Formats: sequence, C-alpha cells, structure tokens
Amino acid sequence: MTDTDQTHVPAEARARSAKLRELLEHHGRLYHVLDDPVIADAEYDGLFRELLTLEETYPALKDPASPTMRVGGAVLDSLPTRAHSLPMYSLDNVFNMAEGREFVRKMLRLLPGADERDMAFWTEPKLDGLAMELIYEKGLLVCALTRGDGETGEEVTANMRTVRTVPLRLASRPPLPPLLEVRGEVLMNKKDFAALNLRQQETGGRTFANPRNAAAGSVRQLDSAEAARRPLRFIAYGIGKTEWAEGSPWSTQQEIMLGLREFGFAAAPGAALCPSLEAVERWYDGLVRERENFPFELDGAVAKVNSLALQERLGFTARAPRFAVAFKFEAEQARTTLEDILIQVGRTGVLTPVAQLAPVNVGGVVVRRATLHNEDEIRVCDLRIGDTVLVRRAGDVIPEIVAALPELRTGRERAFVFPDRCPSCGGQVVREAGEAARRCVNRACPAVRREAVRHFVSKAGLDVQGLGDKLVERLLDAGRVNDPAALFRLEEKDLLDLERMGKKAAANVLKALDEARKKTTLPRLLAALGIRHIGEQTAKALAREFGSLQAVEAAEADDLRRVRDVGPEAAASIRDFFASPGNRELLRALKEAGLCPAEEKAPPETGPSPASPDGTQPGKEGRNAGAQPARPSPLAGKTLLFTGTLPSLGRREASRLAEEAGATLVGSVSARLDYLVVGDNPGSKLARAEAAGVAILAEADFLRLIGRSENNRGKS
Ligand code: IVH
Repeated sequence: MTDTDQTHVPAEARARSAKLRELLEHHGRLYHVLDDPVIADAEYDGLFRELLTLEETYPALKDPASPTMRVGGAVLDSLPTRAHSLPMYSLDNVFNMAEGREFVRKMLRLLPGADERDMAFWTEPKLDGLAMELIYEKGLLVCALTRGDGETGEEVTANMRTVRTVPLRLASRPPLPPLLEVRGEVLMNKKDFAALNLRQQETGGRTFANPRNAAAGSVRQLDSAEAARRPLRFIAYGIGKTEWAEGSPWSTQQEIMLGLREFGFAAAPGAALCPSLEAVERWYDGLVRERENFPFELDGAVAKVNSLALQERLGFTARAPRFAVAFKFEAEQARTTLEDILIQVGRTGVLTPVAQLAPVNVGGVVVRRATLHNEDEIRVCDLRIGDTVLVRRAGDVIPEIVAALPELRTGRERAFVFPDRCPSCGGQVVREAGEAARRCVNRACPAVRREAVRHFVSKAGLDVQGLGDKLVERLLDAGRVNDPAALFRLEEKDLLDLERMGKKAAANVLKALDEARKKTTLPRLLAALGIRHIGEQTAKALAREFGSLQAVEAAEADDLRRVRDVGPEAAASIRDFFASPGNRELLRALKEAGLCPAEEKAPPETGPSPASPDGTQPGKEGRNAGAQPARPSPLAGKTLLFTGTLPSLGRREASRLAEEAGATLVGSVSARLDYLVVGDNPGSKLARAEAAGVAILAEADFLRLIGRSENNRGKS
C-alpha cells in the first residue's frame, strides 16, 4: 500500500476495520473451529456487513486476509494445476489388528536398535473427505491445492478461501514461518450434507451420493461464489514442506498438531498419543464405538509414529509412508436381490460377470451393480438369478457379493450358465490353464477395441478432457475410430457427421486431443496402452528405468523384472504386448500421429558431462556454432542389446547413449544382433550370443565405440 492510499482512509475507518477483522476472525474461529460460539449469528452477520461496507467505501482497506475475502467471486473455465513441493502420498491399509501388528513389526525391522516399547503412535480418526494442501507464505494463505495425482494438484485457492475453518492468516504471534504447507482433509458434516442435498433438490441443482462426493464437487467448483455457499470444512492432519527462520520447533507429530491448532486450524477430534500398539488397539475399539457420534463420516483410523526422527528414518515407499498406516473399518453390508448377471468384455478380452442388483443403500451409497470376478466364484457361492444376496462395499472398492442367502429362496431362482461365446462378437472364448477368467481372443472384437480406446483416453490413460465414454462409443459405432491412434487422425468432418455434434463441440474435441498429444509423457502412454498388469505406478517405474518406449519394447523379461513392481506376470505381459503384430502396428500408428513422448528426464549425472563423440564439447564456439552440433552416428544401422548390470551406466542412460549413436535396441539375441553389451550377472543371453557369434562388448568397449570412453571424456 502506498502513502497516498493511506491518506485516503480516515484513521477511525482504519482502526475500525482492523477491530472488525479481529472480532470476525475470533468469533469465526469460536464458531467453526471450536464449535463454541458466544455471539448470535445475526450479530456476526452485522459485523461482517459493517466491514464489507468499510472496505467498499475505502478500497485501500482491502486485504487478501480479510474475512470478507471468503465470499468468493471469480468463475473459472478450468482449474489450473501446480506441482506439490513434496509429494502427497497415500496410506497403506490394514483391515484388522493382526495386519496392524505385522505393519509395526515391519517398521521395527527397518529400525535396528529401536524397541517397540519406545514407539509411541499419534492416532487420529481417518476422515472421509478429500486431501488438500494449504500453502502459507509469511503467514498468509497463498495457495490451496488438491492432492491430484499426488505430484501435481489442482489450484482451488479461491474456493478454499471461502471455507471458514481455513485461516487466511496464521493466528499466532510472530515469528511466523516463511513457508508452511498444511495438509488436511476437506469434508462436509453429515447434517450440512443433508441440508445441501435438500436445497439442491429444491432448486433443481445436482444432488450428491454422499458427503465426500459433495465436498469433492464443491471444492472443484469453477464458480467460487457457489463454492462459498457449500458448507465445507477443513481439518488439518499434517504438514508438507516448511521453512523456519530458526529451525523447526516440532519434533513429534503431536507437537505439529498442537502447533497447527495454535495457528488456527481445526484438528480431528478424538486424536490421541498412544504409548504402545496395545494402546492403539484400545483407542481404536473406542473409536469404532464412537464412530456414529462424529459429525462427519470416518472410514477408519490412522496411526503415525510420533517421533519425527523415526518418521524420517522410515521414509516412504513409492506410494505411502512407512511410518503411518490406515486401519480401515470393516466394510458395510446390505441385503438385496440379484436381478440378473450380465457379461462385460474388458480391454484385454476378459469376460467379467457383473451382478445387476435391485438398488440398495450400502453405507450411504446406492449400489446397483457388483463385480462377480469370474465364473468359479458364481459356482462356489452357488449364486442363482433371483437370489437374495449380501452386498459389501469397502471404501472406494467396487461393491461385491459376499454370499447368497439360499434359505430365502422361493423356487423361482434360476442357475446362470456362463456363455462359451463372446457376447460382443460371438467369437470363441478360451479359458487358459491356471486362469480363472474366460477370454475373447478375437483381437478385432468390437468390445475389446471399445474398451481399449476408452481406456486410452480415460483418466488412467492419457486423460483426454471432454472425450467421455459416450462420445467414444458414438465414434466407434459410426466407424470413425477403431483403435486409439485413429482418434488422433480425426478431422472436423468426421465429428460433424455425428448426430448432435456442432462445430464448437467438434473443435473442443479436436483441441482436447491435440492438447493430450502434446502433454503425453512416457509413463502416461505406457499406462494408456492397457498392457495387462501395467498400471500407473509400474508405468512410471518402467519409464524411469528405460527412458524410451523403444527401450521398453527392446527389454527382455529379465531386464524388465529388475524394475521394482514388475513381477514375472507383468514382465511376460509386457513381452506379449510388444510381440503382437497388431500392437506393433498400433505403436507405429501412434508415433505417426505424433504420440511419441520425449524421453524421460534422466537423473542428474554425477560424473563430468561427457564430451560429444568427436571429442569436442558441444557449444557455440564449435564447428557448428549456433546450430545443433551434428553428431556422427557410429552405430547407425546396428542392432544392440544390453544384458546384466553395467558398472557405471544406468540402463536408461546406456539405452539413451546407444540410441543417440544411431543403434536400434532389440529385445532378444539372434544371429542378426550386432552387439551384446554385457554387465554383471548377464543371464542366459550371453551364452546365446556367444553361440550365435555375436560381438560381445563390455561397458568400456561400448563407450569407446560411441566415442565416450574415459580417454575422451573432458578432452575438449
Ligand atoms: S495422514 C502420507 N491422517 O487418507 C499421507 N491422512 O488413504 C498421510 N486421511 O490422502 C496422511 N484422514 O487424505 C492422514 N487423520 C488422517 C487422515 C488422512 C484422512 C486421508 C488423506 C490421505 C488418505 C490416504
């Protein structure tokens, strides 16, 4: 604020607005955080309006941390994204105390010298909402980010500003930390949720299945004025990155939670410090008894090692901290009628029976369908169409049938016969030895193709915005598309031919596809291909290890299995995928359509940066000043394969160097292979290569061949 601004505001107005803010923050906190209001709502509203009027009269008084800024105004087209400074992990789940004890034993094995008796746990109810990170710089809220995929979240700052339990300014005496990232759950109280749904019904708005969906929908509202009308709450449970001028004052989880309360955050009621696992068990039993009395929904409990030093020693897996665990409540069950069993054909051709149920409410969610897994399960449970069945739902897990209740049969039930032909294409169905599933083996089966295309563009794949299942279906039915690559060849006229598709909608679809093409990364593409057993995490690990699609394609099962998360089944499935001519054709078509994601960024090199192959450092002073230095390709036209662990190069780095030198990486040894580069524990490839008379190189030979040998390094 400038001096001139200051002179425009009378001193009384300035003093009054400061007083009003203080009063409103104080009473807001009593009301929303502590549930203990001392003034009437009408009085609060009066103070609020007074402040609003002052700020409108003297715009220089406006302040992003004023309680009036909670009202919301801007309407967005879509939510911007931002990377988390530290990843937001998930939690590993256990479903009973035996598993909980095992989790703690595993912790102790990782902490040599630690004694179970010294291990205290901070326990909290597990709140059933959505994870959120609030970023405070010098005590001011500057950003609110959803968890997103854990690495990048969506910015929902304007909406979160409207949430009364979110401090806009940290409530504490200085010194404030220069940076504090607070993590917690956004949720809706059960009562508020019911009232919201009623209001939505009356006003013709959309209603929500449960408080969590309502909270998630509200947080991601594009209109923050609407978000302001939604009764959201934020409950803190931890921190992300922090910076302190004098070092962090916190050394335990409990201290963090006490500190956050002092800063003005609400914390989950019922949290406790448990000095032992037995104490955790007693506390948990109490929570189960109290569960219904909580104002919001819980889906379990969380136990965290209290000492931050031990937390740090335990660290994280790819997915979750090793120092915390979620005890999930037992699943909820309900009774209903099995009306029919339909067969769904998945993207890998697997035929999955799906139960059609008379709609039933299971723990707050209306369930109409349940998975039956496979035909054996139907037989084992002796399920008959028309049976009364018990349905179970556990958190996000797809509902399942626990059992039939044969004692309630009327005699009108009928047995289910699993089809021996694909319900989509009528083609042959096989059941491979050792597999529970029947599979349609027709690669051209419309259902298989449809699922493959659907998966490709879905959230689990390239996440193409605005290309939903319905549109994919219409494109397939109209014959415009029969594989994922065809989507990227679509032109406006292909879309305009579809019913109910205008120019604007068509342009949006093309734009979305183009954006997806541009932002496609290697892990996303790998996940989108729908290779059996390859999900998002494994795709990331593969991309990190191999660095290019070509290198994954070229990898042998042994190499693949070196990647964390890749077991024998996954490795075999990757090999099968790339061996199929149809899939190779698809990859070629995808590449032609511009879907060839740039290489993953290699991890930072530790050694000196290698010279270019001709011994010069690429740079402006070189022969190719200003232009890309022309690299000779010493391995142009040669095929090459790596095996075993190389002494200094990581596999991705080695593959990258080989490809840069013009080599084609292949997957197996044959007489046509030019070079096999061998590291430690080479496996069977070495013997096969020797037998086939292939040239065998050590890493040093390879480096020399591509002009990057030790002698060449740094010789610029
Ligand atoms: S601690 C590294 N404490 O559960 C993650 N999480 O299943 C540490 N959640 O995404 C989270 N209540 O959003 C923690 N008291 C609580 C929680 C809690 C709910 C959510 C959280 C996380 C999810 C993981």
